[in-house]
Amino acid sequence: MKTQVAIIGAGPSGLLLGQLLHKEGIDAVVLERRSPEYVLSRIRAGVLESVTVELLDAAGCGARLHQDGLVHEGIELSFEGQRHRIDIRRLTGGRMVVVYGQTEVTRDLMDARSACGAMSVYEAEDVSIDDAGTARPRVEFVHGGKRQTIRCDFVAGCDGFHGVSRASIPAEALKTYERVYPFGWLGILADVPPCNDELVYASHDKGFALCSMRSRSRSRYYVQCAADEDTAQWSDERFWTELKSRLDERTAAGIVTGPSIEKSVAPLRSFVAEPMRFGRLFLAGDAAHIVPPTGAKGLNLAASDVGYLLQALMEFYSERSEAGLNDYSRKALARVWKAERFSWWMTSLLHRFPEHGEFNRKIQLAELEYLVDSTAASTALAENYVGLKA
Ligand code: FAD
Ligand code: PHB
Repeated sequence: MKTQVAIIGAGPSGLLLGQLLHKEGIDAVVLERRSPEYVLSRIRAGVLESVTVELLDAAGCGARLHQDGLVHEGIELSFEGQRHRIDIRRLTGGRMVVVYGQTEVTRDLMDARSACGAMSVYEAEDVSIDDAGTARPRVEFVHGGKRQTIRCDFVAGCDGFHGVSRASIPAEALKTYERVYPFGWLGILADVPPCNDELVYASHDKGFALCSMRSRSRSRYYVQCAADEDTAQWSDERFWTELKSRLDERTAAGIVTGPSIEKSVAPLRSFVAEPMRFGRLFLAGDAAHIVPPTGAKGLNLAASDVGYLLQALMEFYSERSEAGLNDYSRKALARVWKAERFSWWMTSLLHRFPEHGEFNRKIQLAELEYLVDSTAASTALAENYVGLKA
């Protein structure tokens, strides 16, 4: 097989890159280890920045998002029994986010890819990347018991944190930065109306909680838990009781309980690999960096990486210039580190850390009060939450 860009991974970054390249007349093959059903069953992010929405529009995949997505103009912070609104729209001169699940984003991208007849190989096993350091990289994989080779100009490593792309770069060519947090998030999805029109981020002595949603009839809730928490220990009833105990009275009163349709634990990690390139292999999204979900940045960073990579590839094919490719990693990392900082800060501010004593808790509460009282501080939160410029 021959293609211009071999894309490893059919998560949001791989599929978005595939669609954007297709629109530009650049040929790509997407290789995914799992089945389409498995990819769609993973419940992950829910908040889209305008940069992400614009890229989905450019890919021709924005119709359902504009129809069903919920535009949010603010978020709420709950602590010490009170809820405080951060008016993102007012503080950022009219900017907003859209609540639309990653599952739906992935479904829209998958549908567009099959509609245009572009090639995807699901359940591709044993993917390997060779000769990335040369002008003729190769990707090998096994499908239906048959070993196949793709010859390409470039490889896009969009295969997430545990993928093969970053792992195939020689260790001495990468520097990694990592922080693993001593807790996780236990999340549930339930077909019940959300407790509030906007997301509520709660900091409580018992730990963090988040009230989010997927639609007006589907809610997503999280509570901070142990990193190795066993979901089998959490009946729905135990979850709802724990969630309510971490919220102010007004928010707790709005909770409508019901049977969960999904329950899972996500670990929290900050991670960056530099540079996001090795020869003709370019990393994008979770393959290159991870943020804890507190700032809702993971999916949005994956999209902005793809935007930069698309520009660089277009420049290469239209002008035979490698300038954009040479600048890709620097440009992407400048935005990545700002989102890393914001996600780390939100995580540090809102969670209970095992090493924290009463002093640290008092400092957190003082910062939260300052945040909601000071226009300067709440503006800093709002402009990061809504997304820094790409
Ligand atoms: P992924 O979505 O991970 O996609 C990578 C794809 O590559 C996968 O489909 C995988 O199967 C495939 N793949 C892996 N290895 C191979 C291989 N060897 N060969 C072929 N294919 C391969 N972000 C938020 O903003 N909010 C959240 O609440 C949130 N929750 C999360 C919960 C979990 C459990 C995880 C893991 C992430 C969460 N994130 C969240 C982060 C967000 O979902 C990611 O940032 C986003 O999915 C990144 O997209 P991606 O396409 O780069 O990677
Ligand atoms: C979600 O809805 O899954 C979600 C929303 C906001 C976050 C993290 C997760 O910060």
